[in-house]
Amino acid sequence: MSAVLTPPPPTLGRPIVDAAFLANPYPTYQALREAGPIHWSEEFFGGAWLLTRHADVELVLRDPRFSAQRTGAWVNDQAADPGELAGFQRLFARALLFLDAPDHPRIRKVLNAGFRSDVIQRLVPHIEQVITELLDQAASEPGFDFIEAVARPLPVRVITALMGIERLLQDDFMAWSDDLATFIGTPRPTREQARRAQTSLLAMGRYFEALLAHKRQAPGDDLASRLVQAEAAGEIQGGAELLAQCAMLLFAGHETTRHLLGSGLHALLAHPEQWQRLRREPGLLPGAVRELLRYDSPVQYTGRRVATDLVLHGQLLRRGNLVLPLIGAANRDPARYSRPDTLDITRNEGSSLSFGSGPHVCIGAALTRMEAEMVLSQVMRRWPDLSLLDATPRWIDKPVYRGLVALPLRHG
Ligand code: HEM
Repeated sequence: MSAVLTPPPPTLGRPIVDAAFLANPYPTYQALREAGPIHWSEEFFGGAWLLTRHADVELVLRDPRFSAQRTGAWVNDQAADPGELAGFQRLFARALLFLDAPDHPRIRKVLNAGFRSDVIQRLVPHIEQVITELLDQAASEPGFDFIEAVARPLPVRVITALMGIERLLQDDFMAWSDDLATFIGTPRPTREQARRAQTSLLAMGRYFEALLAHKRQAPGDDLASRLVQAEAAGEIQGGAELLAQCAMLLFAGHETTRHLLGSGLHALLAHPEQWQRLRREPGLLPGAVRELLRYDSPVQYTGRRVATDLVLHGQLLRRGNLVLPLIGAANRDPARYSRPDTLDITRNEGSSLSFGSGPHVCIGAALTRMEAEMVLSQVMRRWPDLSLLDATPRWIDKPVYRGLVALPLRHG
């Protein structure tokens, strides 16, 4: 998409996403922030406005002049012919994340019921048991990869328990989720990546169609059953609307929490004084998880479309333009946080933007924080001398997510 602009849009003058950025995006965010409040970059989805300041990111996430509906060109620009990715678009575009009012609040209300604190609390014994099981397995060798052993399998086990999925197709779920993450996480997805994402999303849709049919016959006390009850009550439409929410929950609950667990533990172990302090004072855990989320946000940016022409920092943003609020940059904005590049588990400066803000704020935030607290608590108690086996682990190559490919650790 091309923008009609006066004056010319500021750019960094060099590519943004390169190997150094993927290893550590924060110097680039700082350079962008210092060069100006708004930038135009052709690197993202054919052209997008980038925002780095905390105040601007929060504004875009909360202001209805910025629409969440943004899947059209994103998907269709990759199609060989107009119908090729229609199945993908049919489901993808209906996910809560990509809807505006009035559909968004209607569906959000239905899903909120499944994330109430009493519902989440009921999952605690199950989550505790899964963590114990995964750590027991990891304990059999002195060295292990925390991502493979814990961070990857745990979130999918939790989200399936929440949804009432009895037959765990863990490998299928992860493969489907990975294909979607590749499409969503790549600034310029290829046709092949879009096709794979479509195949996987449609497979998720078929899986959930069967699950929901079963829940209609034999409802339980779970999120999938709640959804079919809401469908019967006319609060949510059956078909694509319902399936899109299920697929999105499975994906959202899996991809992001994994990164919080991996990057969070890495950050603590790379700052041994913080790790030891947390061990001595486990009451600091909720604040520590909040700080780990700020320090390395698992979701580094999201997107919005300009719904009506507007001027921001002297630039004309045209209706339809894509805006990327850079959450990872906002979380390190010195205008909002003192010593923003320092990890400080006692920091008391409020929440970061890692779960977003405004109407689309993450529905799974409380669940995720609880999961992370439970994992860190067990890991600290079991392995007080846990240490990094690799001082410079590899970060994944999708700039929208900040997470580790592997986290080799030694506990013995
Ligand atoms: C560390 C873990 C997580 C992070 C960092 C995270 C981050 C986010 C962010 C930034 C948004 C807002 C995006 C935007 O405004 O464009 C969001 C929305 C959402 N998240 Fe999460 N999330 C996490 C875990 C989860 C989990 C565990 C679930 C579900 C089980 C979940 C489900 C959702 C859903 C459904 C939305 C869309 C809400 C709406 O549009 O109203 N997330 N998340």
